[in-house]
Amino acid sequence: MFEKKISHSLEETNKIAKDFAKVLKPGETVLFYGELGAGKTEFVKAICDYYSVEQIVTSPTFTIVNQYFGKLGKENITIFHIDLYRIEKKEELVEIGFMEYIANTEAIKFVEWAENSHGFLDKYDYSIKITNDEDDVNKRHITLSSE
Ligand SMILES: Nc1ncnc2c1ncn2[C@@H]1O[C@H](COP(=O)(O)OP(=O)(O)O)[C@@H](O)[C@H]1O
Ligand SMILES: [Mg+2]
Repeated sequence: MFEKKISHSLEETNKIAKDFAKVLKPGETVLFYGELGAGKTEFVKAICDYYSVEQIVTSPTFTIVNQYFGKLGKENITIFHIDLYRIEKKEELVEIGFMEYIANTEAIKFVEWAENSHGFLDKYDYSIKITNDEDDVNKRHITLSSE
């Protein structure tokens, strides 16, 4: 997969995210790249909505990891929403058990600020890059690619 999309609104981003959710499978890992406010968390929220997550999906900037319970038909799906924004050292990743989350073959894993993974993310399935537009505050350039 290599797709470049343009979103003109949060609603359009939600639609792109839900279309992407249809190809995503349990056990897969999705990395997110993009500045603060690009829309990484909104993208994750829309996918969680696709999986009928009832919990409130918020940015795990302080908790680092949020766990949600989703459903796809009758199947239960565990989702780990990880935000590495505040991670400075490799040791911090070891401490939170980052590798164990990533190695989970049943859960879906979303990682924001994947650039702070200190080499622990050599295996992933998709990366999604969201960039702002110079002229339009509600426009985003979204690149979806598989590993
Ligand atoms: N086209 C768009 N797609 C996604 N978010 C948008 C868009 N236009 C405006 N926004 C706003 O940008 C913000 C994105 O926030 P968030 O998802 O928390 O960013 P990040 O997680 O990348 O730091 C939200 O307030 C959202 O309403
Ligand atoms: Mg975020």
